[in-house]
Amino acid sequence: MKVLMVCLGNICRSPLAEGILKSKVDSAYIKVDSAGTASYHVGNPPDPRSIKVAQENGIDISKQRCRKFTASDFDRFDLIYAMDKSNYGNIIGLARTKEDTEKVRLLLSEIDLDDKEVPDPYYDSRDGFEKVYRMIDQACDVIAARLEK
Ligand code: 4NP
Repeated sequence: MKVLMVCLGNICRSPLAEGILKSKVDSAYIKVDSAGTASYHVGNPPDPRSIKVAQENGIDISKQRCRKFTASDFDRFDLIYAMDKSNYGNIIGLARTKEDTEKVRLLLSEIDLDDKEVPDPYYDSRDGFEKVYRMIDQACDVIAARLEK
């Protein structure tokens, strides 16, 4: 099973989602990666604020490097999680078939929260990163439990 986490920049939210889900599953069976729909930060490490909040929770995401989402990712992954509705729309816009479209979900559709989107914390304060961490962590608990079955 291969899971791809996608946001806009691939430096704040999806690197956290990649690191958090990886920490909850057996890497021999479940592969996790992340990508962004924009190319502004390609080749860069995650935002220092994401690296820090992950580190405070025992997860090292500092070695990840940003890459752009491409249509070939539909061939390489079984499940593609978008952090917000804008990301979802951008990914669906690149889908070539019904099968491609069916692989794409909103991350928070996995859990029963009032918020349906993981908000973009890029222009936010430090609190924003902690809130985003907790949302992604809850969703990844549910995803990991299902994938491990
Ligand atoms: P992300 O956050 O999509 O969670 O990685 C962003 C990072 C950078 C930018 C936007 C969102 N940016 O415009 O550079």
